[in-house]
Amino acid sequence: MTSTVAVLNQKGGVGKTTVTLGLASAAWAAGLRTLVVDLDAQANATWALGVDPSLRNLGTGDAIKANRHGVAGDMIVRSGWGEDIWILPAAGDLTEREADTRRDSSVGRLARALTGVIDDYDLVLLDCAPSLGLNTSNGLAAAKGALLVVEPTAFGLRGVDPVLDLIEDVWSSDNRDLDLAGVILNRVPAVSADARDRIVELNKMVSTRSVWKPAIPQRVIVNTAHHERAPLHAFGSQARELTDIFDALLRKLRRSIVA
Ligand SMILES: Nc1ncnc2c1ncn2[C@@H]1O[C@H](COP(=O)(O)OP(=O)(O)OP(=O)(O)O)[C@@H](O)[C@H]1O
Ligand SMILES: [Mg+2]
Repeated sequence: MTSTVAVLNQKGGVGKTTVTLGLASAAWAAGLRTLVVDLDAQANATWALGVDPSLRNLGTGDAIKANRHGVAGDMIVRSGWGEDIWILPAAGDLTEREADTRRDSSVGRLARALTGVIDDYDLVLLDCAPSLGLNTSNGLAAAKGALLVVEPTAFGLRGVDPVLDLIEDVWSSDNRDLDLAGVILNRVPAVSADARDRIVELNKMVSTRSVWKPAIPQRVIVNTAHHERAPLHAFGSQARELTDIFDALLRKLRRSIVA
């Protein structure tokens, strides 16, 4: 049984890649066979998973361009995290794919390229770019669940409705299996009346059930793990607070999204 989830928000820097890597780290610790699909030309997930985004790699953009059943299978490489974590790297001119104007013929391409391939994994995480463009639509069309990463701030909440609209749009035109799996709160301050109010507001925008707990606090160990290109779970007690959180989020994800 594979859980396939697109991690998204059009807003940049909210923690999409951090959540993708945190969940991948929890999967690493649990020995779950995992595929990370990097849909962002910035290639941060690719890099942090120990794969150098070089021109020699084929990747997500090539898979979208090829538009053939299962073609992504030959482009997936083993990550630097070990034998359970694999990556479809950000390569193949994702910026050009994003600019493709033939939307109707394009949105199912990544799903087609991953057909049969995802069955080899327990977990597939699609790390989307900060955009609601074609590549993110491709990610949603290939996923069973959408995970929205949000910061509890005024600007953070302004971005939620357009994302919900896109999920609805892809659901109605391309992928009837798609569902908003949940909203993950990132960078939640320990004490802040404003953040608390924003979380109440968010609970009204989506159903209360959709806002997942626990929320993720801001912690320096996140940056250390990215810098070292290593899973959070490799840092032991230093990262325990966050690894407990990502373990809980992964359990919830595995319960809610199964294809
Ligand atoms: N909970 C956290 N604690 C500390 N730092 C964090 C946390 N979440 C994210 N960051 C840092 O904030 C920056 C942006 O995070 P990240 O790259 O995960 O966001 P993103 O949404 O993927 O960005 P983009 O839209 O550019 O893809 C990174 O430097 C990351 O290390
Ligand atoms: Mg990112």
